[in-house]
Amino acid sequence: MRHGSAVGAEGASPRAASFQEMWAELLPIGRSSASGGYRRHAWTSADAECRAWFQEQAEARGLAYEVDRNGNQWAWLGDPADGDAVVTGSHLDSVPDGGAFDGPLGVVSAFAALDELRFRNATFDRPLGIVNFGDEEGARFGLACVGSRLAAGQLTVEQAHLLTDGDGISLPKAMAAAGHDPDAIGADPERLARIGAFVELHVEQGRALDLSGDQVGIASSIWPHGRWRFDFRGEANHAGTTRLVDRRDPMPTYAETVLAARREAELAGAVATFGKISVEPNGVNAIPSLVRGWLDSRAPGQEALDTVLAGITRAAREYADAHGIDLDVARESFTPVVEFDHALRDELGRLLGRDTGLTVPVLGTGAGHDAGILSGSVPTAMLFVRNPTGVSHSPAESATEDDCVAGVRALADVLEGLTRR
Ligand code: GLV
Ligand code: MN
Ligand code: MN
Repeated sequence: MRHGSAVGAEGASPRAASFQEMWAELLPIGRSSASGGYRRHAWTSADAECRAWFQEQAEARGLAYEVDRNGNQWAWLGDPADGDAVVTGSHLDSVPDGGAFDGPLGVVSAFAALDELRFRNATFDRPLGIVNFGDEEGARFGLACVGSRLAAGQLTVEQAHLLTDGDGISLPKAMAAAGHDPDAIGADPERLARIGAFVELHVEQGRALDLSGDQVGIASSIWPHGRWRFDFRGEANHAGTTRLVDRRDPMPTYAETVLAARREAELAGAVATFGKISVEPNGVNAIPSLVRGWLDSRAPGQEALDTVLAGITRAAREYADAHGIDLDVARESFTPVVEFDHALRDELGRLLGRDTGLTVPVLGTGAGHDAGILSGSVPTAMLFVRNPTGVSHSPAESATEDDCVAGVRALADVLEGLTRR
């Protein structure tokens, strides 16, 4: 269906203006002039600017603003202590040189949807919350969805305290430097128990909506996915004087492992990516002593993901053993398959099709989200907004303004329906 494409026809609605104004304010924050991409990493100055923006938006709308023990930001209309709250939102942090939409689209659309509902004189029988989850991408400390994982008890305080960034700065230290008490972090079951439904709007990170010709879709599930660290250890030596037969060079073993990842993923209908690597001593004329590569792999089902991992690890070990390389493989994070709440998903479909009678497409995704983490504790759903190229985690990520505004309208329709008893 074409949801809300008649933006001009409803020119009196504030949804487009409110969206544009917020979007323009956020746009310069954390943007690299060199790449045009965003570097809004957790607990950095760019992150602080985004968080200040969120607080301003909450206060400008007379919402009760709070930061929870894990650094997630909340803005409330009504008292969350009443329970059965409807919450929407997403995240404001980015991957290295990320796009403008992944995360911020959900937060900006949340505020714009509230503006739209106030314009409609909507009545709210349930508390309505807007959230910005901290450190969703895990770009700095390596683990995705730290804010929501901590809240949901899927990351222990001890595990969180062990996380460090590329400069060796620990998560607690970074939090403290940004003015957040790291000793306060931990599971927050009471807060989550007050939420009756969480709906995250997100830019689509594929082309399903573009291909079907729809502006908005509903999520069905998230593929199981995880991150693994592969350490290949050899021996540093002179690049000019060490005979090939005498070398213990971990780089070819790493390269074979990358090729195996591609092969295994293809065979299983999965995906596997080595997107980050570090090399020691990292000299042009030195054989490396260590190649550390991080694998991100995802599959439609657990069995396929297990098969991919087993195949990659087997190939890496065989090549490592044959070339005198020591190999360690460590799983750094894992998120099992997420099947979003069926009743809530159907309710979203009903609310979005109410005026048009049309069916909204329901799609699965290989991308991780805070909604996936929360789905173990709270009925959770997601809306996707069309991405004409499907490109994401890149400065080229895009969505048209018309589609973004259609997303705001869809979210407003959903929130209006859900907050009315
Ligand atoms: C988050 O965007 C992820 O899917 O890695
Ligand atoms: Mn992302
Ligand atoms: Mn995201």
